[in-house]
Amino acid sequence: MNVLMIGGTGFLGSHIVDKLIDRDHRVTVISRNPDRKMIFDNSKVNFIKGDILTLNELTFTEKFDVIVYTAMIPFKPGRISAKKFRQLQLLTRTYFENTVNLAKKLSCPLVLTSGASFETVRNEIADEHWPLARKGMAALGKCYDEIVTDIKKNNSIPLIEMLPGQIYGNGGMFLKMINMAQKGRVVILGNGKNYLPRIHVDDCASAYVLAIEKLPIGKRFIVCDNENVSVKDFMLYLAEKFKVKKVITIPKLILRLVIGKHIYNTLTMNSKVTNSFIKNELLWQPFFPSYKEGIDALAEV
Ligand SMILES: NC(=O)c1ccc[n+]([C@@H]2O[C@H](COP(=O)([O-])OP(=O)(O)OC[C@H]3O[C@@H](n4cnc5c(N)ncnc54)[C@H](OP(=O)(O)O)[C@@H]3O)[C@@H](O)[C@H]2O)c1
Repeated sequence: MNVLMIGGTGFLGSHIVDKLIDRDHRVTVISRNPDRKMIFDNSKVNFIKGDILTLNELTFTEKFDVIVYTAMIPFKPGRISAKKFRQLQLLTRTYFENTVNLAKKLSCPLVLTSGASFETVRNEIADEHWPLARKGMAALGKCYDEIVTDIKKNNSIPLIEMLPGQIYGNGGMFLKMINMAQKGRVVILGNGKNYLPRIHVDDCASAYVLAIEKLPIGKRFIVCDNENVSVKDFMLYLAEKFKVKKVITIPKLILRLVIGKHIYNTLTMNSKVTNSFIKNELLWQPFFPSYKEGIDALAEV
């Protein structure tokens, strides 16, 4: 297939590109900085230097079978003022709108990415029918629901939605946690009793490859592994496997002061979800069924 990637140089996107070229798909990546070294073989990818903010200025000479969006607005973790948060919300909207407009212009199916932001209590398990909880950093993508509803109402483009849980692996923001663990420190933020869905980056990328190859138009998929795990258990397992002696717990009150309410609300939200739909629909299976196998693999490297 001929795939156009927006965000193909990012943590998740680069793993998708790597798998796509492995399966002999033709891949074009739009990037602001295409000259840097990637985890995939750059020579097997067609790069277009470009910015999502000015996507309409790009010209394309070929027809794509699908556009895949895995881009993320740039922001530094930490406290964010209300004004800055509004600016980031606007930027997120522009990213989504420009991508959707490109898919319209190229008459192309779009695989769009948001996140598995579902808020559950006690033993509730969310599936794809639940409303997305736009809490914490997920509130940046508040416009997403409106944009998707509009696409569906007007049948404007063939759409597939991917909603990954927290992606872990050797890269992205998770790299910081690995680096800390390698230096002998693991930090549990708050009491860690809340659950957050997790997915190893390799498994997440495989799910995207299946979605790209099968193009299940109109479907929305939660992408997470088989086992719901609390933040505390995840971090303690990471500490055990990296032979970390010092596990630091930062109490909720201090945590909120340091990281601000947006990131605090993201990290302390309780979310149990199921991956049944993507397994049935795309016949996808995670290679790392739970965080344990995933972390074991990271610790072995
Ligand atoms: N990481 C997670 O735990 C997680 C969880 C759930 C959902 N998600 C979603 O999954 C997607 C991928 O996440 P990630 O962690 O892989 O993100 P990431 O590593 O931060 O990826 C950033 C990507 O966005 C591209 N990008 C950003 N601004 C751009 C611009 N103005 N023009 C062109 N490209 C731009 C970058 O391309 P260049 O720098 O090359 O231009 C890069 O490829 C995001 O949509 C995110 O919301 C992530």
